[in-house]
Amino acid sequence: MAKVLINGYGSIGKRVADAVSMQKDMEVIGVTKTRPNFEADMAVQKGYDLYSAVEGRESLFEEKGIDIQGNIFDIIEEADIVVDCAPGGIGKDNIENIYKKYNKKAIVQGGEKAPFVEDSFNSLWSYDRCYGKNIIRAVSCNTTGLCRTLYAINSTTDILKARIVLIRRGADPNDAKRGPINAIVPNPPTIPSHHGPDVGTVIPEFKDKIITSAIIVPTTLMHMHSLMVETTGTTKDDVIDAIEKTPRIFTVSAENGLDSTATIIEYARDIGRPRYDLWEIPVWEESVNVVDNEIFLMQAVHQESDVIPENIDCIRSMLKMEEDNIKSIEMTNKAMGILK
Ligand SMILES: NC(=O)c1ccc[n+]([C@@H]2O[C@H](COP(=O)([O-])OP(=O)(O)OC[C@H]3O[C@@H](n4cnc5c(N)ncnc54)[C@H](OP(=O)(O)O)[C@@H]3O)[C@@H](O)[C@H]2O)c1
Repeated sequence: MAKVLINGYGSIGKRVADAVSMQKDMEVIGVTKTRPNFEADMAVQKGYDLYSAVEGRESLFEEKGIDIQGNIFDIIEEADIVVDCAPGGIGKDNIENIYKKYNKKAIVQGGEKAPFVEDSFNSLWSYDRCYGKNIIRAVSCNTTGLCRTLYAINSTTDILKARIVLIRRGADPNDAKRGPINAIVPNPPTIPSHHGPDVGTVIPEFKDKIITSAIIVPTTLMHMHSLMVETTGTTKDDVIDAIEKTPRIFTVSAENGLDSTATIIEYARDIGRPRYDLWEIPVWEESVNVVDNEIFLMQAVHQESDVIPENIDCIRSMLKMEEDNIKSIEMTNKAMGILK
């Protein structure tokens, strides 16, 4: 059993912890928080051993009556790997100040920048490259969604260039501080946005082929992407077939009532997903079209959850637990109940 420490138990950390717990070949040996709030309490109630992410803050948890086992330095030696789920930018410091000093393998998340890690992970594209490596980044929710769709398209035709508009959610549902509340914000106002180059960190051969622009809108449920992909030639049926054959991406139909991010999230609720997570990327079947060798499609991304199964495969790759990425994907999918 691989021993996994989760450093940072927020939106991503709590989901990674639960996903690790569902696997047969790995276990959570602890989770960390800096603040003794309800999430710390929930972690203990769920049976996770809780540690302070910052040395010296243990008494804050004790004062609130939250069972704390110590701080990260009391548990890190026992870990085979740390999944860092701290807020963006902190993972970089943790790499230098903790993981390298303790000679620990670590996965950081999409809020960290590519130059600070050995490589960028996606289960379909870079599992082999990350095999046995020490410091890896599980890329952002948007990059993960784009990598899956481009993998599907690439399996049926040659991609010449991709132009992608990202319509991003203003905040996660638990975040009362971000926005906008009543505006549509070009973010960044310059084109290209950083999302295309980020896909290039996973798929270097696409680095110069992708241009992205991004806007933020007042919603919390999901992101949306509108893709225009120039190819050497394909058909609408071949693209849909490729999507159906690719793991963790499927088509949905507006005609069937799945006509917005709202109804897609309702679907995730109806099928009993924890926290209404949708680990898969839904692509609108009606949006798939091919005009003069150019593919058009629209997809949604559940920002809080599509990266979670990727973190699980990344653990298996870095710890050399399974050589074959497809086998790891199947193991993760089966354990989590990921749909095809
Ligand atoms: N949320 C998303 O939609 C999303 C999607 C994909 C990727 N990501 C990436 O995932 C990472 C985590 O994001 P998140 O949304 O999960 O953040 P979050 O909800 O703010 O959670 C961050 C967690 O890290 C803890 N923390 C704070 N300082 C820490 C430190 N010095 N060391 C270790 N842990 C610390 C926080 O604990 P306290 O609350 O106790 O301070 C909290 O539990 C970021 O890189 C982000 O870009 C986020």
